[in-house]
Amino acid sequence: MDIILLGPPGAGKGTQAQRLVEHHGMRQLSTGDMLRETRKADTELGRKVADIMDTGGLVSDEIVSAMIDAKLADMGPDVGAIFDGYPRTAAQADQLDDILAKHGRKLDHVIELHVNEDALVERITGRYTCANCGEGYHDVFKQPAEAGVCDKCGSTEFKRRPDDNEETVRKRMQEYRGKTAPILPGYEERGIVSRVDGMASIEDVTSAIDAVLTR
Ligand code: AP5
Repeated sequence: MDIILLGPPGAGKGTQAQRLVEHHGMRQLSTGDMLRETRKADTELGRKVADIMDTGGLVSDEIVSAMIDAKLADMGPDVGAIFDGYPRTAAQADQLDDILAKHGRKLDHVIELHVNEDALVERITGRYTCANCGEGYHDVFKQPAEAGVCDKCGSTEFKRRPDDNEETVRKRMQEYRGKTAPILPGYEERGIVSRVDGMASIEDVTSAIDAVLTR
């Protein structure tokens, strides 16, 4: 089963994708994570990607779609893909259709995480991850059981994203409203959109997504 998790920055796409990976053995394909790997390299492309991400803009459609194509080429047909943060423009949505067809796959669900944007700034500016295993945490909503120690791997090193400041978050939301939200009606016409309340607790959002996937 191949699905898209759609929602503005901080809606919980990454959090829920990780849980789907754990519960259903699916694979998370996050273009944000792929681009964060790209920007680590001291190359022209790495620097260009870093500049765009740090100002909250969108990286070119061709670059991100090529990344998704390459990841799908590496995946077996029986492993479901979770598209997290992709597609983000009408062009990417068209490119995804072509890429899926090329790999003999099809889109089963688009799950829209419906959220109150005002609450998202708090979610994003409070978020951090384990520097070792990438487990996600939040200053208020999801703290490690033992302060300063990762629940999953025991590391005491954590990090925050450079684009998780209020100014950049607001620009990212503007990009979502202007370029990403308009792709939803096309999927609605295909009858594959399910809307989930992304303001519910993390557990309840997971249950609602599970209900969509098993119906
Ligand atoms: P990307 O990494 O995709 O960021 P994003 O879409 O802005 O989404 P986030 O990762 O910020 O939020 P999320 O929805 O995953 O929320 P999370 O689960 O972490 O993209 C970054 C940048 O890369 C873009 O700005 C762009 O420049 C570039 N890029 C990426 N893809 C691209 C593409 N396709 N095309 C062009 N450019 C692209 O949750 C947030 C916090 O809230 C966490 O702390 C979490 O613990 C907490 N939380 C989650 N759910 C709940 C809940 N239900 N209740 C309470 N707290 C919750």
